[in-house]
Amino acid sequence: MRTICVVGTGYVGLVTGACLAELGHRVVCVDNDVRKIQQLKKNIMPLYEPGLDVLVKNNVKRRRLSFSVNLKTAVKESEVIFIAVVTPPRDDGSADLSFIETVACEIARSMDTYKLIVDKSTVPVETGENVEVTIRRNLVKKIPFDVASNPEFLREGSAIKDTFHPDRIVIGVKSKKAEQILKEIYAPIKAPVIVTDIKSAEIIKHASNSFLAMKISYINAVSNICERTGADIEKVAEGMGMDKRIGRSFLNAGIGFGGFCFPKDLEAFYWISRKMGYEFNLLKEVMEINKSQRILLVKKVEDALWNLKGKNIAVLGLAFKPDTDDMRFAPSIDIIADLQKAGASIRAYDPQSVKRAKLVLKDVTYTKSPYEAAKGADCIVIITEWDEFKEIDMRRMAKLLKHPIIIDGRNMFDPAAMRALGIVYKSMGRGE
Ligand code: UGA
Repeated sequence: MRTICVVGTGYVGLVTGACLAELGHRVVCVDNDVRKIQQLKKNIMPLYEPGLDVLVKNNVKRRRLSFSVNLKTAVKESEVIFIAVVTPPRDDGSADLSFIETVACEIARSMDTYKLIVDKSTVPVETGENVEVTIRRNLVKKIPFDVASNPEFLREGSAIKDTFHPDRIVIGVKSKKAEQILKEIYAPIKAPVIVTDIKSAEIIKHASNSFLAMKISYINAVSNICERTGADIEKVAEGMGMDKRIGRSFLNAGIGFGGFCFPKDLEAFYWISRKMGYEFNLLKEVMEINKSQRILLVKKVEDALWNLKGKNIAVLGLAFKPDTDDMRFAPSIDIIADLQKAGASIRAYDPQSVKRAKLVLKDVTYTKSPYEAAKGADCIVIITEWDEFKEIDMRRMAKLLKHPIIIDGRNMFDPAAMRALGIVYKSMGRGE
């Protein structure tokens, strides 16, 4: 059992803290957002993540997990400190690391015994080095410490499962002691551990996310060829994915990726590569293809409805992907803005993200069911592939719509089955 402090109670911090407590460690999660900590103490989660509330509740009950706004005390009482604060994008696309610096300074000023400071946030290469320098500069007296990089690979919506069953655990260290502590912390998890230097660990994270984003843009580019030739991208992805070297995952064509990870990590990786003197133009193209997919969906709506002025559009799904309420960099934001700019009115349904959507979308009417959204609308646009949409009674939907038109940005349905119901069904890269 180790005493651990996790700084930052966003997705990564909160899930990491709760999971480390579940592994048997004593964990205190710290955040300077007083309200958030008060809510967490009442077991009110700041975000929707399946299973997280139960995990938090159980571990608080067992006294292995607690919440605090007092970083100083938490640092003193912990041997290992995970930094999991946000690294938002700046206007130029580079990562804003000022929160990491502030936390590093505070850790340095609070520590009085050996500490292992582990970076969990996604950061550009060389951040570990800067954290080390910052801590050394701000130490009140000479105290031994180690800095490590331990990137997270959890996906929103399956964050807990991903943490307990990762494909690998990446540990970037400079000392044997740091390696030993981190290996011990993760010992109950059955996964290969790769030990590297700190810079390589940092690059593993950026390069992995960028590669996955590249896979998505690649399949989207191929889907555009499918569309022009009448081929079927679903079959193409299936056939490609059977090659073990390629794999089927992250080959789902559609309106592309959003969320707080891929868009910002791609930009940040591009930016840091450039800073190092290398023009990583491939990443730029990945971003461009991603942007164009959203425009393509709007074009499909225009092709189906002609003028959008005065038209009512029912949008199904707003979150950047299913099983999350996260709206950050969600494709729905750009798509809805474009539809509105062209004069359309939007009625939207999403099972989880309405509260957050209200903070970022303007002039949208929210409904309690997909059927309510569809009633009297000129068409349906599917943006997020929530499982519950598969259960929709399409016959009923078709009757509720003014015109039975569905534009599916996530290829959720079988085109032939839709046609059989008399629905004009347009999806991505399937040649209809
Ligand atoms: C991503 C990575 O998958 C995680 O490994 C990583 O830890 C995380 O970023 C992070 O850096 O924190 P996440 O953004 O939660 O996780 O979600 P993904 O499931 O990767 O989906 C990202 C976006 O890609 C979504 O908008 C999704 O709709 C889109 N996507 C995904 C596709 O368009 N096609 C696909 O085939 C797969």
